Amino acid sequence: MKFRIVFITLTLISSFAFASGSSKLSDNDPKATHALKPKQLNWEFDGFFGRFDRVSAQRGYQVYKEVCSACHSLKRIAYRNLAEIGFSENEIKQIASTYQVTDGPDEEGDMFERPALPSDKFVNPYPNDNAARSANGGALPPDLSLIIKARPDGANYVYSLLNGYKEAPDGFEMTQGKYYNPYFEGRQISMPQPITDDLHVEYKSTFASKEQMAIDVVNFLQWAAEPETESRKKMGIRSIIFLIILFVILIAAKKAVWKKIK
Ligand code: HEC
Repeated sequence: MKFRIVFITLTLISSFAFASGSSKLSDNDPKATHALKPKQLNWEFDGFFGRFDRVSAQRGYQVYKEVCSACHSLKRIAYRNLAEIGFSENEIKQIASTYQVTDGPDEEGDMFERPALPSDKFVNPYPNDNAARSANGGALPPDLSLIIKARPDGANYVYSLLNGYKEAPDGFEMTQGKYYNPYFEGRQISMPQPITDDLHVEYKSTFASKEQMAIDVVNFLQWAAEPETESRKKMGIRSIIFLIILFVILIAAKKAVWKKIK
C-alpha cells in the first residue's frame, strides 16, 4: 500500500514537472507551437459609447474586395448592407453590377448568369468548398462573415495574425506549403501573407501601410460580424437615461405622498 502511494505521488510530480517544463518554452523557441497572445489595440467600436469608424470600414471593404475576396467568401452580407457603413445607393449599385450571379430557372428551365443586384449576397470566390480547398493546398479559407466573433479576442487576433508573419526560428520544422505565424495555433498557417507594404491597394486619402490595411479590414469585418453593435449600445444608453428619469420621478412622488401624512 505504502509503495503504491509513493509510486502515484512520484508519477504525479514528474508529470507536473514535465507539463510546466513544456509550457516554459520561450516565444522564440523553435519547439514552441503555442499561439502568442494577440496585440491589444484600441478600437473605436469597443467600450460603452463604441461606434464604427465608417471611413476606416469603407477602406476595409476595399481591402477585402481587392485582396481577401480572392479566397474568402462573406456570404452573410448583401451588397445593400454596405449602406450601413456609408456607401451611397449609386455606389452600391455600381459595386454589385461588377459581379455575376447565377439565377433562374428561366421559362425554359435553364439557369442563367446576370449582373448582381444590391439585394444579392456577396459573391463567393469559389463554386464550392472542394474547389476552395484544392486551390489552397487542401486548406479551406473560412467564410469571414462571423470570423471576428468566432475567435476569442477576434479583432485583436485577426489584426495580429495579418501582421504576424515572420521567418520561422532556426530549427523550426516547417511543413511544405505552410507559412510561419506565431499568432496561429500550431504556428503554421496555409494562408500566404495577404497584406504587405508593397501591396498596391490605392487609398483615396491616406497611405496604405500594412498596419493601416489590417486595422481597416478588421473594422470592416467587425461591422460584418456584429452590425447591430451601435444600435445595441445606443439602446443601452437610452435605457439607463430612462431609468435615471424614472428614479427621479419616483423619489419626487414618494416625497409628495408622505408630506401629507406627516
Ligand atoms: C490566397 C488565398 C488567401 C487570401 C488572399 C487571404 N486568405 Fe485568409 N486564409 C486562406 C486560407 C487557405 C486559410 C486557412 C488557413 C489554415 O487553416 O491554415 C485562411 C485563413 C484565414 C483566417 C482564419 C485564421 C484562423 O484562425 O483559422 C483569417 C482570419 C483570414 N484568413 C483572414 C484573411 C484576410 C483578412 C485576408 C485579406 C486581407 C485574407 N485572409 C486573404 C487563404 C487566403
